[in-house]
Amino acid sequence: MATAALAIAPDLITTLHGRPRGHLAVVGIGPGQSAWRTPEASRLIAEADELVGYGLYLDLLGPLAAGKPRADFPLGGEADRCRHALERAGQGARVALVCSGDAGIYAMAALVWELIDTGTVSDAARRAEVVVAPGVSALQAAAARVGAPLGHDFCAISLSDLLTPREDILRRIRAAAEGDFVVAFYNPGSKTRRTLLAEARQTLLQHRPPETPVLLATSLGRPEERLTHRTLATLAVDEVDMLTVVLVGSTQTRRLETGDGPRIYTPRGYARKEPVP
Ligand SMILES: C[S@@+](CC[C@H](N)C(=O)[O-])C[C@H]1O[C@@H](n2cnc3c(N)ncnc32)[C@H](O)[C@@H]1O
Repeated sequence: MATAALAIAPDLITTLHGRPRGHLAVVGIGPGQSAWRTPEASRLIAEADELVGYGLYLDLLGPLAAGKPRADFPLGGEADRCRHALERAGQGARVALVCSGDAGIYAMAALVWELIDTGTVSDAARRAEVVVAPGVSALQAAAARVGAPLGHDFCAISLSDLLTPREDILRRIRAAAEGDFVVAFYNPGSKTRRTLLAEARQTLLQHRPPETPVLLATSLGRPEERLTHRTLATLAVDEVDMLTVVLVGSTQTRRLETGDGPRIYTPRGYARKEPVP
């Protein structure tokens, strides 16, 4: 049983008692250049009162972030970053939590939902409205740069064993190799983690030829972008860093020389339906 009263105000009400429901937008801004940012992502950032994120990603926003209070968090401070964003939204703020690429692919959206689900944030934070805005992921940007290597079935595997047991990663690599998926390797190696990509290469070589096309795409959409074409035989682990995504073709993936440089594509199977003239 409740009593409610409604009234129409003659003017805009500027003083409110109580607090508005907070809003957290978990926003993927694409890998780098602003042309790869969706209008929805730009709108949510423009509408935010404050920004939360890893400093490098906030810097990538350029003028869109100008004048907004920002909470920069270091790499590795992911739980603190998400908790801070949720708690600020719980206090009634309109917050944008900024992620690179897509917000739900190896990014913060899953951790935000996990914190809400496991109750490790305040009740106020759990009542905030949360929306997730998708973005262009690194694998899509890399593929677009070199043709259409993801034209048929593909999968993504993160080679970071910081959060995933090494044995699970190796099992997924074996399954991808046996299933003949094109594979996008995220987090392919850092200064201290260098062995998993070499192991992945060995496993894949048991199921696909040494001349299988490989692309190392580094710093996509940023001034220092680098695209390096290799094969499974010539893939060198030392050429990757934490800003590289590695695309490895399937047995069907082909490399094509064009006047604009090499292109890679994976046919969808139309040749089986229509004879090529
Ligand atoms: C924590 S994951 C973030 C993925 C991101 N949410 C996405 O959808 O692209 C970080 C990994 O994504 C890849 N990555 C992110 N941005 C990249 C870029 N601009 N160029 C190449 N790879 C990138 C790298 O493999 C990097 O180690």
